Amino acid sequence: MSRIPSAFIDDLINRLDIVDIIDHRVKLKRAGKNYSACCPFHQEKTPSFTVSPDKQFYYCFGCGATGNALGFLMEYENLGFIDAVESLAKHAGMEVPREENKFAEKRDSRLKQLYKILERASDFYQNQLREHPLKDKPVSYLKNRGLSGAIAKLFGIGFAPPGHRNLLQKLGQNEEAIEQLIDTGLVIKREDDGRQYDRFRFRIMFPIRDIRGRTIGFGGRVLGDDKPKYLNSPETEVFHKSRELYGLYEARQANRKLDQLVVVEGYMDVIALAQYGINNAVATMGTACGEDHLKLAFRFVSEIVFCFDGDNAGRNAAKRALTNSLNTMEDGRQIKFLFLPEGQDPDSLVRQIGAERFKSQLENAVPLEEFLFEAAAENIDTSTMEGRARFSKVAAPLVAMLPEGIFRELMFDNLAKRTGLSPEVLRELQKEKVQLTEPLPKSTPASHSNTAPRSMSSPPAGEPSTANLPDDQSPPIYDPADIPDEIPYEQIPADYLPFSPPFDNNTPQKTFQRGDEQTFTFQYKSSVSLSSAKVATILLLENPKLLSQIGRKPSFKPENDDLLRLNELIDYLDKRPDCNFNTILGYWGGSKGVEEQQNLAKLLANQLMSNAKTIETYDPLSELQNALNKIESAQLKAAVSSELAILKAKGLENLSPEEKNRFRELTKR
Ligand code: UTP
Ligand code: MN
Repeated sequence: MSRIPSAFIDDLINRLDIVDIIDHRVKLKRAGKNYSACCPFHQEKTPSFTVSPDKQFYYCFGCGATGNALGFLMEYENLGFIDAVESLAKHAGMEVPREENKFAEKRDSRLKQLYKILERASDFYQNQLREHPLKDKPVSYLKNRGLSGAIAKLFGIGFAPPGHRNLLQKLGQNEEAIEQLIDTGLVIKREDDGRQYDRFRFRIMFPIRDIRGRTIGFGGRVLGDDKPKYLNSPETEVFHKSRELYGLYEARQANRKLDQLVVVEGYMDVIALAQYGINNAVATMGTACGEDHLKLAFRFVSEIVFCFDGDNAGRNAAKRALTNSLNTMEDGRQIKFLFLPEGQDPDSLVRQIGAERFKSQLENAVPLEEFLFEAAAENIDTSTMEGRARFSKVAAPLVAMLPEGIFRELMFDNLAKRTGLSPEVLRELQKEKVQLTEPLPKSTPASHSNTAPRSMSSPPAGEPSTANLPDDQSPPIYDPADIPDEIPYEQIPADYLPFSPPFDNNTPQKTFQRGDEQTFTFQYKSSVSLSSAKVATILLLENPKLLSQIGRKPSFKPENDDLLRLNELIDYLDKRPDCNFNTILGYWGGSKGVEEQQNLAKLLANQLMSNAKTIETYDPLSELQNALNKIESAQLKAAVSSELAILKAKGLENLSPEEKNRFRELTKR
């Protein structure tokens, strides 16, 4: 395997003119300093696609598409990274050099070994189910639960016999193999004395496979009522819980054309449904269904049905899933929620009512649009004006989280109908913070407790829940005096994000003006700013040389994605002090993928169009210093308070003299 040296990509991008590259494919028209055209990535009548020759990147104000020349080609011609580089190189008359990548090669062969040992472990467990002297126990357990032999075989169910060294002895013939067993989480090596032993003992084994059918980990269930009921493989190089769905491989095998996936909670639910012919169920592995899970599922289907318990915990889980899924709800996709009767899970229910009735329940599941409004209206009397206002405050930010498109527009229309509020007011309200289940990290606890109904059909049952509606005393989501670095980008009120909503003539606080010369201005509300990490990132992208001017190389605790990105950028700039935005973008795309590259470009697009720079006193260097200082002081403050908390927890009277000194020192700050 070989790889393209990143210096070549930098060089290539520097030599090309993005205007030239795009103009070849989409006719561009000069508009002031920039060029524009109707966006090739979405349908539009008036041009909102802009190409900046200065910055060498494009941005669409209509759909947010953005990137550099390389990104454009990948997107427009649907090319992979390598192919796009090849094509651009050809255009520039350059030969693409390849460097042998020893590192990647090594990693590849290492991963192969890990997959292999996992496969052998899976074979071993399956054999034990047939051959072990105690096999009657797991076999009768599975029979009692109604599993057929055929379905057990299909899912590769196995048996980890009792004892600490079964797998270790069978597969750990040499040091290397033992290492692999440890690295795949099959064998545990104790920190203190280095003793090694099998992780899974006396359990029913469920191999977890990736979409290519490779075994990447296991879930293991006790045969009785011991705790923990399920043990899962830890995160390893080949197993990432947040990115895998149990049963997806089997579902794809069973269905030539998969159009819907049913997301359930447990391994046994997936298997029982499959046994009853509902072979499109998948499960997460003891975690909530997050955005990565959904993205994975939507790669194969356009419809997802979530199954949840009808009880309170189930409803809260459903709300979490709802919030997690809004982002992924592009036009043409559908999500539904099925609430099961109390005390039932899909496994027990399908055995009780049979496949046909289960299927019809799936069909009648509650569509996301309905559940969203219902969840938002929980505990609110929407027959009153005041209630409707409260309802819109919860619902509008949720709807605003949907990706731009027809569905989102329809949802806003629907919300307008439900509340009798005008689109202007709704747009104002969408800035409210989103809260259906858990409060955001920095918010204060809600001042009133809420109750949640036990199921869709029954009235509120009156027990407290974690549901937490915003109230009027709640602090604004964004407080510039503070450093709101932990607020995810998505939760910044949409109006403060660079380009959504795009030009809208109905909006009184119009944030964009489109003049004859096609200049775009974007006004930050003065009371609101981006997080310091973002500000610093933008400033460094704009002017990479600033880093050397501040005279040190800052590095932050990577508490969130923004800080992580800032650190990486600083690292890169430190190594390549004379790079420019373009080479940064190229490097970003090459090393982190197009999506990350686009996020970076979006950040800068934001600033590009900002009029902040027209303010006379604007001084990027002091802005940068200011932003970096803010992050540093916030992190210092956090470190101090956690150290203080530890000392306090020990009890002041138990502190050693040094600790007492330290305590005094800390409290002085
Ligand atoms: P459930 O407790 O709902 O179990 O956990 P289940 O799937 O109905 O199991 P059975 O029917 O008693 O066999 C749902 C899922 O949560 C994870 C597992 O992925 C399980 O399938 N889980 C549960 C754990 O990871 N560890 C546990 O101790 C329990
Ligand atoms: Mn169950």
